Amino acid sequence: MESKRNIVITGGAGFIGSHVVRLFVNKYPEYNIINLDKLTYAGNLANLKDIEDKPNYKFVKMDICDFEAFYQLMQDEHIDGIIHLAAESHVDRSIKDPFTFARTNVMGTLSLLQAAKLYWESLPEKYEGKRFYHISTDEVYGALEMTHPEGVPSPFTTVASSSEHHAAYGTDFFLETTKYNPHSPYSASKASSDHFVRAFHDTYGMPTIVTNCSNNYGPYQFPEKLIPLFINNIRHRKPLPVYGKGENVRDWLYVVDHARAIDTIFHNGKVAETYNIGGFNEWKNIDIIKVVIKTVDRLLGRAEGEDLNLITYVTDRLGHDARYAIDSRKLQAELGWEPSLQFEEGIEKTVKWYLENEEWMDQITSGEYEKYYDDMYKNR
Ligand code: NAD
Ligand code: DAU
Repeated sequence: MESKRNIVITGGAGFIGSHVVRLFVNKYPEYNIINLDKLTYAGNLANLKDIEDKPNYKFVKMDICDFEAFYQLMQDEHIDGIIHLAAESHVDRSIKDPFTFARTNVMGTLSLLQAAKLYWESLPEKYEGKRFYHISTDEVYGALEMTHPEGVPSPFTTVASSSEHHAAYGTDFFLETTKYNPHSPYSASKASSDHFVRAFHDTYGMPTIVTNCSNNYGPYQFPEKLIPLFINNIRHRKPLPVYGKGENVRDWLYVVDHARAIDTIFHNGKVAETYNIGGFNEWKNIDIIKVVIKTVDRLLGRAEGEDLNLITYVTDRLGHDARYAIDSRKLQAELGWEPSLQFEEGIEKTVKWYLENEEWMDQITSGEYEKYYDDMYKNR
């Protein structure tokens, strides 16, 4: 039995944050879980409808850059744990508007750190029993070479096993010790926030942890990201904009497995450590797109593959990183975490979820969800 804790999860109405909030609220009824979110375009309280009435859950609408408000919240709620996911998260938006990324991802993270420092240092026990857990991305490491053998189709591994993956494809992966080399404004802002978090440990002794995860997929992802955008476009038979040649490689992890890893690391991870989280599941974009098309077609009762003609090659993303691939053996060896799902099962579940939750998707794409917030939360 865990003891009582008062935990703020930032970004809980977004994609990954909503899965983390759901897992903590359901698994730890003795904890107070506060979901702190500004509800930008990416935040959607409909993501948490199933748990919004639970007694151990509270939603607070707040900007992470609002230092005074967060410092007050720390004191009012006696916060002893922070799991920080709130961020601007979409690379394409960062290319158009880098300032918003620096403000939220860098200044927002610094604001949380400083408020936590002031509050925790004012307590008699200071940092004992406290934790500041920062969720980051594999993109901070930059891009890997495309080292995979020519002509070998994705997936580059069908097993969630590090040893088989390494045996087949060498050792060119992001490790916890890989030097930071961010390329996009998004990854530069995340890298900067990671440095601030580590600096607060090294300078003030704050008990921090940083994790760097690969691409997530699953329910409740905002449909500007590859998989939900393409599922929705296939549904409506709209063109599928494939950047460049579609050869870029990403390492895909089911979002619930990321949330499980966050739970494990929050409770059992070592202070000041970094853990990489990934699925040993590398795919070229074009191959994953074909799987998504065939799965949507089959589940909608269309001829499998009949929508392959929606594939439309478009101008590449500026500075498009060639390949991400995470080595998560440290997390597996030290804390015993493993991905629970094979990709084939995960993608089937994901496509089914989007097709069965058309209303969730349609509200976002029609902009109705913004009105929902105005009506429901304007006086909070
Ligand atoms: P998301 O865009 O779906 O959600 C972000 C949430 O943060 C939204 O609810 C938004 O309202 C909130 N937010 C944004 N600015 C805010 C502010 N100033 N104050 C308070 N709340 C604010 O993002 P996601 O994909 O769920 O990513 C969550 C975190 O995980 C991010 O830190 C991201 O860098 C990291 N990450 C994401 C992935 C991925 O594949 N999506 C992989 C690795 C790491
Ligand atoms: O690696 C972790 C990162 O994964 C997270 O830190 C980011 O928050 C998250 O957005 C994701 O970044 P990517 O840029 O990899 O994800 P995205 O879904 O935008 O794109 C995945 C790949 O698909 C990428 O190579 C670009 C390509 N793509 C994307 C879109 C939206 C297309 O070809 N067409 C598209 O329309």
